Amino acid sequence: MEAYVITQYVHQLAVAATLALFVLRGGWMLAGSAMLSRKWVRITPHIVDTVLLVSALYLAIVGWGWPLTPHWITAKLIALVAYIALGVIALKRGPTKAIRAVAFVGALVVFAYIFQTALTKTVMPW
Ligand code: HEM
Repeated sequence: MEAYVITQYVHQLAVAATLALFVLRGGWMLAGSAMLSRKWVRITPHIVDTVLLVSALYLAIVGWGWPLTPHWITAKLIALVAYIALGVIALKRGPTKAIRAVAFVGALVVFAYIFQTALTKTVMPW
């Protein structure tokens, strides 16, 4: 199998894993669970997100000639930064549970945008 196709699968697996871990941690945050401070719960998302970003950059540069083209990839990268920032507020930095909950929902909305952008390959997929 070609390296690009393998990387596509790796990227899609990382996408599924990051969403599953984020929803799980968001649930624990809302429930006030001590699971959030477990070592594997703190470390695994960093590994998954690194795989997500490295595979994304490979696909973008090798497959699509980014950053010269096309804009939907740049939009995904910017949205990924927003997703990570909202995730940090939701799971770590948010001063109250209400703020954390709003940031959690916001991160899921941004995730949905990134997903739709990937499928339609347009900056505005709605
Ligand atoms: C949470 C973050 C991300 C999600 C949910 C996501 C989602 C996806 C999905 C579902 C696909 C498969 C699309 C298809 O099969 O047609 C895909 C492919 C791709 N993604 Fe991502 N992605 C994310 C981050 C990124 C980032 C940051 C970049 C850019 C640096 C990126 C660049 C790409 C590229 C270039 C492809 C390959 C498209 C192709 O060759 O068909 N992704 N992404």
